[in-house]
Amino acid sequence: MYNPPMPDPQFARIETIYRALTLPAQTADPPTLIAISGLPGTGKSFLARHLAARVPCVIVESDFVRKTLIPQPTYTSAESDLIHQVAHAVIARLLHAHSRVISDATNLAEWHRERLHQLARQADAKFLIVHTTAPDDIVQARLRQRFAARDPRDLSDADWNVHLLLKREMEPIRAPHFVVDTRGEIDAALAEILAALNEPRV
Ligand SMILES: Nc1ncnc2c1ncn2[C@@H]1O[C@H](COP(=O)(O)OP(=O)(O)OP(=O)(O)O)[C@@H](O)[C@H]1O
Ligand SMILES: [Mg+2]
Repeated sequence: MYNPPMPDPQFARIETIYRALTLPAQTADPPTLIAISGLPGTGKSFLARHLAARVPCVIVESDFVRKTLIPQPTYTSAESDLIHQVAHAVIARLLHAHSRVISDATNLAEWHRERLHQLARQADAKFLIVHTTAPDDIVQARLRQRFAARDPRDLSDADWNVHLLLKREMEPIRAPHFVVDTRGEIDAALAEILAALNEPRV
């Protein structure tokens, strides 16, 4: 009896996200993965958008993946596992297609960042980690504002309580990384990241 190969159980979801993304016209040489890591409200999505405005990038935002696949998310660990699995598969596909990709997710656990590094290595891509930070009072004000006046581009449901909960799960970043304090202008930090993107690989 013929047994067809098992389909990837997430194939349809991966396809949905891949098709929903806006891909830049040019490919990147080398392909690059910029992993942003930081607590809610520290400015990951803000930084990702500003970076993508300066250099063609595809942003794979975990909140976009979540809301596209699950219109009414429940934030269970099973749901988060699914979102990461799909996001990582999309990132791998983009890197193999020679894209410059930004992973816009909290990426707080060391194994998440290691997984992203592994995806980059497998695609022979350059890899950078950028850690976003901001003082507590500023983050708290931003997260209050998030719910007072909703920015249509903002897909996150995280509030200050979520920020505090996740703070306990945050693991120090062992690999070399950039730290961007987003309390003010981020132009200097963007320039530093852009310079690193242009550096030859060692
Ligand atoms: N450098 C900055 N200057 C001005 N406003 C900023 C800056 N960084 C972030 N913000 C604002 O703070 C709010 C939270 O930022 P953002 O949505 O980027 O956080 P985030 O880290 O992506 O959070 P989440 O993990 O919940 O998605 C947004 O309204 C954003 O516009
Ligand atoms: Mg965000």
